[in-house]
Amino acid sequence: MILVTGGAGFIGANFVLDWLAQHDEPVLNLDKLTYAGNLESLATLKGDARHVFVQGDIGNSELVSGLLVQYQPRAVVNFAAESHVDRSIHGPEDFIQTNIVGTFRLLESVRAYWGSLGQTEQATFRFLHVSTDEVYGSLAPLAPAFTEQHRYEPNSPYSASKAASDHLVRAYHHTYGLPVLTTNCSNNYGPFHFPEKLIPLMIVNALAGKPLPVYGDGMQIRDWLFVKDHASAIRRVLADGKVGEVYNVGGWNEKPNVEIVHTICDLLDQLRPRSDGKSYKAQITFVKDRPGHDRRYAIDAGKLERELGWKPAETFDTGIRKTVQWYLDNPDWVAHVQSGAYRDWISTQYQ
Ligand code: NAD
Ligand code: TYD
Repeated sequence: MILVTGGAGFIGANFVLDWLAQHDEPVLNLDKLTYAGNLESLATLKGDARHVFVQGDIGNSELVSGLLVQYQPRAVVNFAAESHVDRSIHGPEDFIQTNIVGTFRLLESVRAYWGSLGQTEQATFRFLHVSTDEVYGSLAPLAPAFTEQHRYEPNSPYSASKAASDHLVRAYHHTYGLPVLTTNCSNNYGPFHFPEKLIPLMIVNALAGKPLPVYGDGMQIRDWLFVKDHASAIRRVLADGKVGEVYNVGGWNEKPNVEIVHTICDLLDQLRPRSDGKSYKAQITFVKDRPGHDRRYAIDAGKLERELGWKPAETFDTGIRKTVQWYLDNPDWVAHVQSGAYRDWISTQYQ
């Protein structure tokens, strides 16, 4: 079996669902169930013996060490993290605790377990660390996309904490020989995305008749990847990635934020027109910019394509249509995640 951490979050849940749709290798899913963790995203696995869920913290060494000995996973895929840049600006402490201290403790537990394995199991064991393109910092408008050689220049508490975790993972390979792999991926979107991030927030606010808050001039650029393509990239790297290597993952889809918001409005205008006949674009509101806002991210995923033959299956057009349709088809999931804590965050951030 494999141990997946953070498997009740957006990407983790999509990865677990995809993994078990591909084959029968069981998943031990360790997730703290913070505000971002949601077992409803895994509802279709209810009663499925291939999925074992444990609520807990990656930083709880006793718990993690016990689980490793009990379940003997052949690999760990580490998704668990605090992941929202705006939250990291309001309160960086949780990011330091989970992303840095938590990853360190997880690495320590895994190192002890790995050291106890036989030679063959040690050689085939993998620790795959899921990271972000944000560790590379911000690009000038015409600069080439980030390759794996790009300098680390994190600018937010979130990206700095992820950068620190990437360095720890690297060090555990060089110092202790732990067989690690690291992936640095661009912005994901798709089903089960918590509506604090750009794409789901815009869909949910549009349908609720609320403002669509675009930061600054809305010309910040991100590279967008459909979440199932991220899951397939991780499977590919886990299967055949070279130990100690880093792989960038991206969708070759650089787009300014306003264009994303316009696309979402156009799709909703077609699929669920407003009752007054106006476009959802009427709800767009430009608001104060994010402090230290990175202007542009772009990922060069050429290494993953050349060396492991991975390419995304979705274009932005096909992926965003599926995503908008998913939110229209799943109003209950959306309603349940909009708890009191969610409403508190939205009112803190958008006052
Ligand atoms: P998310 O915030 O939706 O989910 C994170 C999950 O981790 C939640 O289920 C949460 O309960 C769990 N968690 C948090 N702290 C934990 C702890 N201490 N112990 C155990 N579980 C804990 O995040 P996501 O968008 O699914 O991102 C997953 C990973 O992918 C993160 O490491 C993130 O940095 C990385 N990543 C995200 C994106 C993106 O666009 N969302 C892009 C590239 C990389
Ligand atoms: P986000 O989804 O938070 O991802 P990240 O900051 O990790 O890239 O934001 C994506 C882009 O959208 C980013 O440039 C910030 C911008 N944004 C808005 O303009 N308005 C919003 O309400 C949010 C949440 C984000």
